[in-house]
Amino acid sequence: MHPAYYEDFNEIKNKIWSMLDNAIKDRSSPFRIPVFICGNENDLDGRIVVLRKSDRSNNLVQYHSDIRSDKIDKLKRNKNAAMLFYDKEEKIQVRLKVECIVNQDNEITKESWSKTQHISRKCYLVNNGPGTESDIPTSGLKPELDNFDYTKEQSEEGYKNFTVIQCKIKSIEWLYLAAKGHRRARFDLKNNKDSWLVP
Ligand SMILES: Cc1cc2nc3c(=O)[nH]c(=O)nc-3n(C[C@H](O)[C@H](O)[C@H](O)COP(=O)(O)O)c2cc1C
Repeated sequence: MHPAYYEDFNEIKNKIWSMLDNAIKDRSSPFRIPVFICGNENDLDGRIVVLRKSDRSNNLVQYHSDIRSDKIDKLKRNKNAAMLFYDKEEKIQVRLKVECIVNQDNEITKESWSKTQHISRKCYLVNNGPGTESDIPTSGLKPELDNFDYTKEQSEEGYKNFTVIQCKIKSIEWLYLAAKGHRRARFDLKNNKDSWLVP
């Protein structure tokens, strides 16, 4: 017996969004930590990020980052990026092509920042931005901060470095591995066109 989504575009889309929605709540979901890939023609790079929002009605997903990361400059020059997910148990790969919006000190960042946990705020308290070279091995933090020894008030310092990257989905590619035959589909959201592809 095949799952309902084996050969049904709508069921596939339902499955994809249920996996993305679930990843926001479920810390152990493999879809929680996709690879985010961006750059320019000669310098592309991928990194793991944590999925923080999934919004089917707006075809949007988002994650948080430090505004000083190299990828932010790259995104400002080229907003086109990709996201890659794989769930080994489900045997489902999802590839997104997205257009990114970099949010800084606006309603979106305020809302997300207010929901960040105390321990997560530590990432935004480093003196120099991620990727800065150091003479010694370092977390980038003062020792007391490494030990989570900061007040809520002190953690607010991190807000100036906090960015929410909104990823507006242009297209989705789905690959489902099955012994009876893999299935691959593409959903072009801009042109509202669903296609089967050879896996
Ligand atoms: C499990 C895990 C989760 C991560 N989550 C994020 C994240 O949500 N946002 C982010 O910017 N970096 C995240 N990182 C760090 C990035 O992978 C990367 O090392 C960092 O962003 C610096 O590289 P970049 O400036 O080229 O992106 C995470 C890393 C791991 C291993």
